[in-house]
Amino acid sequence: MLAEVDRYLITKDSGYYVDCTFGGGGHSLYLLNKYKNIKIIAFDQDGHALQRFETNSDIQKVKDRIVFCNDNFRNIETNLKNLNIPKVAGLLADLGVSSKQLDDKSRGFSFNSDSVLDMRMDSRQHLTAYDIVNTFPKEKLEQIFFEYGEESFSRQIAQKIVETRIKTNIKTCNQLKDIICSVKYSKGNINPATKVFQALRICVNDELGSLKDLLNSLENILDTGARAVIMSYHSLEDRIVKQAFKSAQSLKIINKKVVTATQEEIKINPRSRSAKIRTAEKQ
Ligand SMILES: C[S@@+](CC[C@H](N)C(=O)[O-])C[C@H]1O[C@@H](n2cnc3c(N)ncnc32)[C@H](O)[C@@H]1O
Repeated sequence: MLAEVDRYLITKDSGYYVDCTFGGGGHSLYLLNKYKNIKIIAFDQDGHALQRFETNSDIQKVKDRIVFCNDNFRNIETNLKNLNIPKVAGLLADLGVSSKQLDDKSRGFSFNSDSVLDMRMDSRQHLTAYDIVNTFPKEKLEQIFFEYGEESFSRQIAQKIVETRIKTNIKTCNQLKDIICSVKYSKGNINPATKVFQALRICVNDELGSLKDLLNSLENILDTGARAVIMSYHSLEDRIVKQAFKSAQSLKIINKKVVTATQEEIKINPRSRSAKIRTAEKQ
């Protein structure tokens, strides 16, 4: 959704913008190539994104205008302070997991793999999906599946996990998928394990906590007239963004109705089907 990001984010064609979620660098590159006088501070907690940043030949061409912080965006204020940048001209966050992370079977995000349950975006962190599945109490598992995955079979799945792990550790993505499929039938072409895997990913990476911390920093780091554009893919995230924008005294909501992808965009990029963009401007 490059056009939408461009339209809502850019209010001046110079200064420092923040890309909180560099990923493959698509948004950063688009903006740097279009606006020759802006600079970007890019965040990504994933070491693979840092590697892409260092090796991508298109990034090399604009390297004098982009700085990479291999950190969680929840630490944005500390990073900007260290870089001596008190205020920024705008901020973009394209939340969640990237297709590169999902497609790399060894990362343990995807249910069709014999990889160990991992799901860490930042491999320096300790907690993995394996730890959660094999050590969290049944009630906690149920809560995670229900709250983060809106999984209606959360109780039965949590019960089955606990029964299984007494006998043997649940090590791989396929093992967990089979447990889920033993208590839940598939509907249409959506895999029955989708919601539980999403819930585990959100929990492993404390995605909602990181988002709340980022939103709490907005009023301190945005320059007057600067905008925050947040793209979310989950109803819980969207609710958090909506609420934070509403309750921040110095933020004005720019799009009262969420912006969603056009049919053309959905055809090219199916992930954009569930994308919701909210924008607020610092007064
Ligand atoms: C949806 S992808 C972004 C794709 C990117 N906009 C592009 O054009 O390629 C999300 C990226 O944000 C990173 N990410 C997610 N949550 C993060 C957080 N709290 N702090 C830093 N990076 C995060 C992920 O590692 C992933 O690479």
